[in-house]
Amino acid sequence: MQEILAKLEEKRAAAKLGGGERRIAAQHAKGKLTARERLDVLLDEGSFEEWDMFVEHRSADFGMAEQKVPGDGVVTGHGTINGRPVFVFSQDFTVFGGSLSEAHAEKICKVMDQAMKVGAPVIGLNDSGGARIQEGVASLGGYAEVFQRNVMASGVVPQISMIMGPCAGGAVYSPAMTDFIFMVKDSSYMFVTGPDVVKTVTHEVVTAEELGGAATHTARSGVADLAFENDLEALLELRRLFDFLPLSNREKPPSRLCTDPLDRQDFSLDTLVPANPNKPYDMKELILKVADEGEFFELQPDYARNIITGFGRMGGSTVGFVANQPMVLAGCLDIQSAIKAARFVRFCDAFNIPIVTFVDVPGFLPGTAQEFNGIIKHGAKLLFAYAEATVPKITVITRKAYGGAYDVMASKHLRGDVNYAWPTAEIAVMGPKGAVEIIFRADMGDEAKIAARTEEYREKFANPFVAASRGYLDDVIMPHGTRRRICRALAMLRNKQLQNPWKKHDNIPL
Ligand code: HXC
Repeated sequence: MQEILAKLEEKRAAAKLGGGERRIAAQHAKGKLTARERLDVLLDEGSFEEWDMFVEHRSADFGMAEQKVPGDGVVTGHGTINGRPVFVFSQDFTVFGGSLSEAHAEKICKVMDQAMKVGAPVIGLNDSGGARIQEGVASLGGYAEVFQRNVMASGVVPQISMIMGPCAGGAVYSPAMTDFIFMVKDSSYMFVTGPDVVKTVTHEVVTAEELGGAATHTARSGVADLAFENDLEALLELRRLFDFLPLSNREKPPSRLCTDPLDRQDFSLDTLVPANPNKPYDMKELILKVADEGEFFELQPDYARNIITGFGRMGGSTVGFVANQPMVLAGCLDIQSAIKAARFVRFCDAFNIPIVTFVDVPGFLPGTAQEFNGIIKHGAKLLFAYAEATVPKITVITRKAYGGAYDVMASKHLRGDVNYAWPTAEIAVMGPKGAVEIIFRADMGDEAKIAARTEEYREKFANPFVAASRGYLDDVIMPHGTRRRICRALAMLRNKQLQNPWKKHDNIPL
């Protein structure tokens, strides 16, 4: 018996050593943690239950029969984050470069299948050289099995990808189908075809970092949501995000004791909007001042900065904030911001997270670049996302809500539950100047007349009361009371029920 126990310990020790001391040292030399060290940081101490530690690949080609490492390059199982369950897989770069074999894929599929059954999120820590070259099509099949599960799990359990090393070729499509992608600066990259292929095909000379590093994907392509300085920061921030998310689409978002008074007033908000309507102000200040304890987990802060998206809490429960940012492009909606916000709204709706929208939008960004690249179709994504969403929707118009953008930004007409405006709101088809230039074209040139007409238009429409008189707004509120009014609305909406008509699925403009 003693011998058998010793053998088990021996086998466990071999699995834990992965690709061996030399490769572990190489991983550390790159500033990276190993697959197991990462799980130690991500999960609550002692909570990890490992599965399939003894799984081995089944390949015999290219001398592989003699090279078997228990676990086969990925550590899988489940554990907890602040006491709440989560399924994980962590690719081990020290074993065949973390490359994906058929057996490696089966391990990932097993945790995904179980996560969907029990209703718990899946976090993947990606660090892999891609398809296990020695296995050929068996590896490709393995990837596709994972992809299929990513799609089935989408909207059922939150899926999060943390890219902590290479992620190239078709392998990128598993993270691409998860809800959030995070990256570690300088040590991770993602691309479909690498620098060498790019050079051969398009003659462009580009480094891996330029082509697919964290800066590229968080600021330029929008593929990734956030980039972190190192493995440790990345994993600790992932724990922070996890606390905002429900475990599955069957749950309400998590709720915690709230020590921040729900009726806390903030009189500095009364002067947030400048007297000059053309002057910008920082909308993030409003989010930070209404959210519980000023905590806000912002997503994609460096991409499409004209719209802000992220999670906070109101009265202890998670809400999703969407807000136009007047500091960037005057808060206009454009292709990138519409896509960014639409995806966020859909995540919130899929996982029962109420959406709080702050509006200051002068309209859609004009220009050939926008039209030629399909602002019609992409702008429609945000409209579609808000319109189909059945979660509680609370909207506060702080200043401009012009034209189609007024409709899009969670207006009453798109089943906004509670729509408020500050007294500084201007809700109209367009700004006074543009409006007068069209409807009083004959008077153009007569500056005094135009100024008088502009003032008349401003007086009549550049306020919230026309919309309020029609019931498009439920109330015009004092800025300092915004937190209290939103908290009350959320409490009222706690048991909201609304169902869309039966359909196989919708056909959102892609
Ligand atoms: C098998 C692999 C591997 C792979 C790396 N290794 N990638 N083994 N299959 N895909 C092994 C190496 O042989 C080496 O083994 C160890 O992992 C570490 O690799 P190094 O090259 O020494 O590390 P590094 O210099 O850091 O370079 C990492 C790398 C490079 C950039 C990832 O290894 C690389 O280019 N690998 C090939 C990538 C690739 O072409 N993959 C297929 C892409 S196509 P030893 O024993 O020396 O430690 C694809 C399609 C997916 O993925 C399709 C899905 C639909």
